[in-house]
Amino acid sequence: MGAAGRVVGDVLAAVKHRAAPGVTLRELDVLAADLIAQAGARPTFLGYHPDWAPRPYPGVICASVNDAVVHAIPDAKPLRPGDLLSVDLAVHVDGWCADAAFSVVVGRADPVDVALIEATERALAAGIAAAVPGARLGDVAHAIGSVGRAAGFGLLADHGGHGVGRAMHEAPFVPNEGRAGRGLTLRPGLVLALEPMLVASGADAYRHDPDGWTVRTADRSRAAHVEHTVAITEDGPRVLTLPSDRAVAGAHGHC
Ligand code: MF3
Ligand code: CO
Repeated sequence: MGAAGRVVGDVLAAVKHRAAPGVTLRELDVLAADLIAQAGARPTFLGYHPDWAPRPYPGVICASVNDAVVHAIPDAKPLRPGDLLSVDLAVHVDGWCADAAFSVVVGRADPVDVALIEATERALAAGIAAAVPGARLGDVAHAIGSVGRAAGFGLLADHGGHGVGRAMHEAPFVPNEGRAGRGLTLRPGLVLALEPMLVASGADAYRHDPDGWTVRTADRSRAAHVEHTVAITEDGPRVLTLPSDRAVAGAHGHC
């Protein structure tokens, strides 16, 4: 899973580096596909078909802009200055999966968007810090949710993180809000994808686009999403989806 995580980290760093006004989401998808192929990995999202989706996922990345929170399909639309872009990617290497995401503003950023992304990153960092052996799943959920609520942002309803292993989505579901001291006790060897999704307006509600995939905020306010795959080890949490030192020059990771 570390090998898969390094590919995810490197590809996301390259995609983040390339993202700019005028670049289309499909160009970012092609870039990711090429780099994944070069790395000898398999793009997990492509053809993924959970029971809640109307059709198999047609992209390599999810590229969600502004009020799209997650699961948006890359299309031919160019990014515009000030767009808030979230990119999500999972790959398999030798049958093992890793999953991560970043959010960034392309061009000149509205300070509210910057604050939203920073709070989402802080929520993820708090969740990672709580993912230690002996802690409970509720401690992780509580850590993530408290940061989001304290910042005054919404937490997207019904969505959260998940176990990762041979499959992208494994038990347990990891809510982005919860009660400390409750739930599954974390043990070394468990690997979790933690993924806060924060909404600028403070509301939690969402809707699906007619494409059946794109999750959009119900009030059309902007949202940010960041994600890491984190192994619980005896030495504490280990983030598996950081870029390797072969990462694109000028890119500083994605979180
Ligand atoms: N990576 C997403 C998640 O974090 C799943 C995307 S599924 C896809 O759980 F098919 F849309 F790609
Ligand atoms: Co995930």
